[in-house]
Amino acid sequence: MTRRTVTPDEYELLSASARRVLATNQIDGRSSTLPAPGQYPHQWNWDSAFIAMGLAHIDEARACAELEALLEGQWGNGMVPHIIYNPDEVNDRSYFPQRWRWGTELAEAAAGPPTSHVTSGITQPPVLAIAAAYIAEVGADQALAQSFLRRVYPKLLAFHRYLLTERDPHREGLAFLIHPWESGLDNSPRWQSSLDAIVVNRGKLPEYQRLDTKLVMATQRPTNDDYDRYVYLLEVYKEHRYNHRLLFAHCPFLVQDVLFNALLHRANEALITIATALGEPTQEIEVWRERTADAFARKLWDEAEGRYFDFDLRAGRPIDQNTIATFLPLYAELPTAEQAERLVRGNLTNPAKYWPHPDTPHFVIPTASKDNAYWDPNRYWRGPIWINTNWLVLQGLLRYGYHEEARRIFDDTLSLLTCPLPEGEPWWFWEYFNPLNGNVYGIDRFSWSAALAIALTAQPPPGRRPQSA
Ligand code: DGY
Repeated sequence: MTRRTVTPDEYELLSASARRVLATNQIDGRSSTLPAPGQYPHQWNWDSAFIAMGLAHIDEARACAELEALLEGQWGNGMVPHIIYNPDEVNDRSYFPQRWRWGTELAEAAAGPPTSHVTSGITQPPVLAIAAAYIAEVGADQALAQSFLRRVYPKLLAFHRYLLTERDPHREGLAFLIHPWESGLDNSPRWQSSLDAIVVNRGKLPEYQRLDTKLVMATQRPTNDDYDRYVYLLEVYKEHRYNHRLLFAHCPFLVQDVLFNALLHRANEALITIATALGEPTQEIEVWRERTADAFARKLWDEAEGRYFDFDLRAGRPIDQNTIATFLPLYAELPTAEQAERLVRGNLTNPAKYWPHPDTPHFVIPTASKDNAYWDPNRYWRGPIWINTNWLVLQGLLRYGYHEEARRIFDDTLSLLTCPLPEGEPWWFWEYFNPLNGNVYGIDRFSWSAALAIALTAQPPPGRRPQSA
């Protein structure tokens, strides 16, 4: 597919098409939206946050309900799970791992999932507070937003408190992750060495059958080796009854993720905005933010390379993999202006890494640097472009005044979203895209692609604007 410039005249058409996707993907009779029909038949945590941001522009009440439906699955310890299983999708033949695989009933009753909902046993990047503040910011009905914020604020606070206490025993300001799925970027090159180091006890690995490659080609998904480790980790949680003290000591996968923690920092900024609007104290959140800012500067920034490194707590060393995660701190205003310049000029706009070379044009932003040893433009988070990471980095660039680069990301994102297909709806909102040729991957009618198309066209970034036709 070649790049095309989507003109402002087309925004309304694009947005109307995206609305139809969000209408179709709403779970029947419920307030929640599934990420895509078939492949993802339940409610996912950070998907719902992005979906709510799109909905905020077209149906504020549904945006609020989306987040509140997710928060119904919150655990007693504050964790908001990465999946709330759809109670109507009971045959469990379309998604693996099925609900029973998690054994969450083994978690201590007071700290575990609510009895009313079946959930996974891990979390996902904390975008919820950002989405809640976004609804209040762009929505027209201030009374509705205010009462929504009042209801969800204690739950969001409990979620962040969980992340910065149970998941941060040394109070570094960095939450640890116990599964690659918690990072949202499941098979990111960043996790390869940590996964390779896991010795899978084959006697403990249950028999299982992957279902994710029924609808999507295996070459676009994580490998079977990855899945063995993903599944094995569930057995570790059950063995330790989801006790985070024990998991900190024994979980073979234990990392501090730059993307997750940058989003947490940004989400704490949103939480302060909400607390202030509600007249609630903010001191606890400010202390978290100081700690996180310090940890990013001291522990995660690599001065020699001029980018951020994740940290493998189990191996006790930084993870040197250049991926899109390094740009997420921009969104949380964590880098100094000088560090931001090194991220942008040394990495983002460097044609050897993320940006197109004038002679070999391609789309931005690949999710891994083109010179990464694990670079694969076809496989999930190893290179393909995702709409949510483009949106987040775009917002980060705007915070630092990189308008030209933000505009390029905006143009490319719309170009990918409007990839034409022969029949039916004009635009299909695919899940991810090959940066080199724009080939579409994963599942079509992907909810967050549609939702962010709405958000993007409602608030285009400044900079060079395409001419109306
Ligand atoms: C999947 O099933 O692919 C999800 O990314 C895990 O949450």
